[in-house]
Amino acid sequence: MQPVIPILTIDGPSGSGKGTIARAVADRLGWHLLDSGALYRAVGYAAGMAGLDLSDAEAVTRCAQSVKIRFRDPGDGGETRVIVNGHDATDELRTETAGAAASAIAAIPSVRQALVDLQLSFRKPPGLVADGRDMGTVIFPEARYKVFLTASAAERAKRRHKQLKDKGLDVTLASLLHEIEARDARDASRAVAPLKPAADAVTVETTGMPIEEVVAKVLSLLRA
Ligand code: C5P
Repeated sequence: MQPVIPILTIDGPSGSGKGTIARAVADRLGWHLLDSGALYRAVGYAAGMAGLDLSDAEAVTRCAQSVKIRFRDPGDGGETRVIVNGHDATDELRTETAGAAASAIAAIPSVRQALVDLQLSFRKPPGLVADGRDMGTVIFPEARYKVFLTASAAERAKRRHKQLKDKGLDVTLASLLHEIEARDARDASRAVAPLKPAADAVTVETTGMPIEEVVAKVLSLLRA
């Protein structure tokens, strides 16, 4: 029998620190990392580049089925690059515009379906940390370890603001809070794969908690 490849799913709303925590935990464990949000961002980006109307479900689905998405590790410990249809779109993908486009196309069931096999293909030895909204509920319901990260909307807006400022992007805290609340509402209320913790997930409330503490908490769940 093939040994079971362990999976840790980390789901939660935008700005809950999932990305940072998932990367840190994957590094610590030496496991692979799936940033599923980047896939939705890449599809939204590719659809935008093709001049598609993001509410045209059929056209966006064809785009999701044909888009070529590659992750490239720069090898110097730097940020993973995301290559969309041959173009390094890493910088464009992290903008709030790309986040909003991702959230819009992610509500289309056939778009989500088109990304399933690609997501499953990240499960490789020695293990996988999968970061997203529906990792523990839909994509890897059999995962051995499941975490749901939360934080207040105000705290998440503050974190995002700092992140974007550090990257040299200029946005106001108020507009970020507004966008985060709108995106939360859309992600939680959509009919397919809405944002919610898996029944067997451990919820970690991270408001006011330093990153290192959240990483330690997640790692302690794996050891428990
Ligand atoms: O995590 P990130 O902010 O990059 O995700 C961007 C958007 O992609 C989310 O707001 C959500 O609508 C969508 N998404 C999703 N399912 C996932 C990951 C992201 O619907 N597993």
